[in-house]
Amino acid sequence: MRHILVTSALPYANGNIHLGHLLEHIQTDIWVRAMKAQGHHVTYVCADDAHGTSIMLKAQETNVTPEALIASVKASHEADFAKFLIDYDNYYTTHSDENREFAELIYRRLNAEGHISTKDVEQLFDPEKNLFLADRFVKGECPKCGAKDQYGDNCEVCGTTYNATELKNPYSTLSGATPILKTSKHYFFDLPEFSEFLQQWTTDAGRLQPAVANKLQEWFESGLASWDISRDGPYFGFKIPDTPANEPDKYFYVWLDAPVGYMASFQNLCTQRQESTGTTDPQRPALNFDDYWLSENQHKTELYHFIGKDIVYFHALFWPAMLSGAEFRTPTGVFAHGFLMVNGEKMSKSRGTFIQAATFAEHLHPEYLRYYFATKLSDKVEDMNLDFENFMQKVNSDMVGKVVNIASRCAGFIVQQHDGVLSSNCSEPDLLADIMRTGDEIAIAYENREFSRAMRLIMQCADKANEYIDAKKPWAMAKQQGLEQDVQDVCSVAINIFRQLMVYLAPVLPELTDNAKAFLNLDDLSFASRNTLLLDHKINPFKPLMQRIEQTQIDAMMAASKQDLQVAPEVNTGIGATINASPMPQTASNRSKQATRQTAIDEGTDASGESSDNSDSSDSSDRFIDFADFSKVEMTVAQVVACNYVEGADKLLQFTLDIGRDTTINVFSGIRKFYEPQQLQDKKVICVTNLAPRKMKFGISEGMILSSGDPKTGLVVITLPDACQVGDKLA
Ligand code: 2FM
Ligand code: ZN
Repeated sequence: MRHILVTSALPYANGNIHLGHLLEHIQTDIWVRAMKAQGHHVTYVCADDAHGTSIMLKAQETNVTPEALIASVKASHEADFAKFLIDYDNYYTTHSDENREFAELIYRRLNAEGHISTKDVEQLFDPEKNLFLADRFVKGECPKCGAKDQYGDNCEVCGTTYNATELKNPYSTLSGATPILKTSKHYFFDLPEFSEFLQQWTTDAGRLQPAVANKLQEWFESGLASWDISRDGPYFGFKIPDTPANEPDKYFYVWLDAPVGYMASFQNLCTQRQESTGTTDPQRPALNFDDYWLSENQHKTELYHFIGKDIVYFHALFWPAMLSGAEFRTPTGVFAHGFLMVNGEKMSKSRGTFIQAATFAEHLHPEYLRYYFATKLSDKVEDMNLDFENFMQKVNSDMVGKVVNIASRCAGFIVQQHDGVLSSNCSEPDLLADIMRTGDEIAIAYENREFSRAMRLIMQCADKANEYIDAKKPWAMAKQQGLEQDVQDVCSVAINIFRQLMVYLAPVLPELTDNAKAFLNLDDLSFASRNTLLLDHKINPFKPLMQRIEQTQIDAMMAASKQDLQVAPEVNTGIGATINASPMPQTASNRSKQATRQTAIDEGTDASGESSDNSDSSDSSDRFIDFADFSKVEMTVAQVVACNYVEGADKLLQFTLDIGRDTTINVFSGIRKFYEPQQLQDKKVICVTNLAPRKMKFGISEGMILSSGDPKTGLVVITLPDACQVGDKLA
């Protein structure tokens, strides 16, 4: 049994939880549940990231103390995450005694070892508000192109990056006042001293994803810089200890004590568990802080951080350097995910695609989202597109049409004709053994964070079960006398497969599988439980476990999202989301400039999140389309895995196409007249992969294969040379 501590990034306490946060916390929660189901001892902690200027200003605006603000935000964050069944062992706050103590301890140890220095820094200062202005609080004219109203770190129009002091005609966005230049002493953490350590650390096997490690290599090559860890008051945070008496208003920058919040939340959990000793809840065993954080225990326990790709700099450089300099253990692994897009674009307020967790949960069952995310998540740092049409189709066809259907088709015969009791023998041992064996692959896929692969394997098992039921037709057998035993046997096989599927899906769908437990009359759905069969076992009457998603629910949710943002324009631009209305490209503007400029870790995802240089193309002729329109078409190098005739259709061929990232799609193409299926087997073709799925008489077509010529007289499928990589986009 492994002992593992897991974290998700700490949401800022200045806005509501949205789908971007959920992507990460659902990813982490699925992994935690899967590892627990495999028998490991896993602890999952998180907290609100409660410090910083934004929170201080927001509290002022709303006329409450920052403490009151962060307490109410924390309660709403916890309620939102609970709706999505995120099962933290502890959800804490960075504004806590434990966090102050650890932040001070780490700082003091770093200082004692000579890793802290001071330097005078000249910065823009708002003379009316009496505070130094972070880049996002200054606007002015771009020093390069002169564009007006550009933020203090880069120009949205020409893309130039600069220092806020270089802006022409700057003004404070807080008061409108013209900022003045003012100098103050700042404290710096000497990151370059850790270069050698970090170069080794970041390349240790299993520590980081290859794309992240490669990006870090670029950062090492351009040289690390010391990190400014102080902010002058007024600031909401912890005062830096041991500063001279004449400089009382030096605070730790929010990003110094944020990751320390992982330790603090865990310490708080250890205390809670100690206080509850005597109660022997196996779900809440005693925990020892030192086991997880002392450097000598580095190999005894494991520590993993799940984060968004925009905060790699903090987690893979600053954080391990701080920990190692202060003689704590470093993370075993840091797992980054990409941003969430909605309907192919950045989340947008005006289109209703900036969706808050609470709004989603009001209209749609949270487990739909958990399943959809699981079908799309891998171990890569790729952006994820939540396409609502695909979402509805996937959940309805996989969960309702395939999985739940197995139980709903068979349970009635067992309950009504056999008193709820399953057969005492398994009539299809090979089929069951096959599904059990697939469980080994599913367990590995979960552990490797290849959830999309796990979901595909599970759906293949569900397909086998449905094919079996279709072939045996228990409903027809039930009408014939003398076949009672056969009906019981067939339905018992199906219910046993359904039980295996519930075991495999439990990390993703904890509520559905809990309800299935009641139906199956079981209390264990751990991975180990799949290796026994339910024989002579009594089940309960079946109740529907999941409803189909209706388009009206999605429409209502989008409409409510537009409304939400009219009421509450302030949004958290934190993890996992890209937001159209945000002034900054991709990254939250309140992260350090250094990190902001160095975080584009991309694994060939499309550039639809970036504004296009050609967006002002204004040719009015009907012949032309905007580049923006063209760039919407996603053309992917695909390989023909299977090509078949379609019974009853003399114009169509059916294709299973590998489109990369472990994904296959189903496509019908009208080229039957010109090709025999085997001529196209294994060929690399071009497929348009973002066409809305089309429901045809023979099934759903999820893409379009490109060919040239005339559909009446002759079509030639465009095939690609071997050198083209499956999954690559055509550009
Ligand atoms: O980017 C963010 O939303 C930060 N609040 C994440 C902090 S993660 C950790 F370091 F605390
Ligand atoms: Zn410019």
